[in-house]
Amino acid sequence: MGKKEFPEGFKWGVATASYQIEGSPLADGAGPSIWHRFSHTPGTTHDGDTGDIACDHYNRYKDDVTLMKFLGVKAYRFSISWSRIFPKGKGRINERGMDFYNRLVDELLNANITPFITLYHWDLPAALQDVGGWNNRDIAEWYADYADYVFQRLGDRVKNWITLNEPWVMAFVGHMFGEHAPGMRDAYAAFSVVHNELRAHSKAVRAFREENLGGEIGITLSNHSLTPASQNEADITAATIAHEYVNYPLFLNPIFKGSYPEHLLSIARDYMPRGYEMDMDEIKRSIDFVGINYYSGSLVRAEPSAPFGIKEVGRGLEKSEMGWEVYPEGLYDILKGVQDSYEPKGIFITENGAAFKDVVENGEVHDSKRTEYLKAHFAQAHRAIQDGVKLKGYFVWSLMDNFEWAYGYSKRFGIVYIDYKTQKRIVKDSAKWYSRVIANNALD
Ligand code: FCB
Repeated sequence: MGKKEFPEGFKWGVATASYQIEGSPLADGAGPSIWHRFSHTPGTTHDGDTGDIACDHYNRYKDDVTLMKFLGVKAYRFSISWSRIFPKGKGRINERGMDFYNRLVDELLNANITPFITLYHWDLPAALQDVGGWNNRDIAEWYADYADYVFQRLGDRVKNWITLNEPWVMAFVGHMFGEHAPGMRDAYAAFSVVHNELRAHSKAVRAFREENLGGEIGITLSNHSLTPASQNEADITAATIAHEYVNYPLFLNPIFKGSYPEHLLSIARDYMPRGYEMDMDEIKRSIDFVGINYYSGSLVRAEPSAPFGIKEVGRGLEKSEMGWEVYPEGLYDILKGVQDSYEPKGIFITENGAAFKDVVENGEVHDSKRTEYLKAHFAQAHRAIQDGVKLKGYFVWSLMDNFEWAYGYSKRFGIVYIDYKTQKRIVKDSAKWYSRVIANNALD
């Protein structure tokens, strides 16, 4: 195999999220978020871990930008904590919270790193949860007002925007499985949250266009490659439903075509909020790119006793520390599926990476499994580009180890190691390798 060159200007980046790295969640007048509240509720996270300190990025952001510059990354995807800017979610603005992101953006631009801002990565202001959160239809306006304010304050310098991160996870893991904030177990709530997320997304895109600041806006979706376990009709149908339910079609069908995917409705119709059809015209609105998150894949078998008749089974491949099978070909399939079904103007891989057990030896971390993981996935991204996918960039999850939600600090996804006792950053071997890929804009 020869050298795999990537297109000129390809945006090699790293990604993080506010609650996972910042720490100091209540500093400088910020209000609590639902993740602050959830992680402080006993029994919700591994070892009772919280984001109180995390990577202390709130205080160390300058060093972290220097680190990214040292690695040569071209772009940085991070998220904004809504309740730093609007402590109660709406109304009064907290200038000191805004100031943090202003400084971060300036620091990045000085380092020649393109900021990609995620406006919402799961840390809803707790005050809005108290009035129903994502399950209240008014969230679409609350969110759009918040987004619009951020466009006004940062849009002169920031040109790449992501409305929501993984709305499926937020809706289902947060509202149906109860494993993420706000910890609900209600299938009706989960589907109404999906619908309100789409309405909120659409209103924010409209506000962005109206501000006329230039730049691009898209949405980031979670994906898990799902293929039928056999050629039996029942397995094929189960896999189609599963794909439409957990992957990009759930959101891209409404956004690009103005309707929920057909097979999904066979399981979801009863759960959808009454009159949802009336919102579909508004939800259908052009976006500039699609953000794809991808980690793993499984096979699907029809199983009448399983939820929605869907059972996932493994292929017996190597697993990461998360227990997720390593299946790089699935990344290709997802990218190709998005390109062929919706023909977006651009696609970014907004997250891909892996948790493996890391050991510090003489101040170094030899994480060859993570490097192999990334290499195999980069190769599939390259193949997708060769086959016509308009892939514009690739963000590795994550710049550094961080608070992995309900798993707390027990899973390390970083290409930079964090010693949580000292907050020392150690550049892992995978980061050194990535740095060379970026410099060559090619995979050897
Ligand atoms: C994604 C999340 C991200 C991180 C990775 C491992 O679902 O968007 O915050 O937790 O998984």
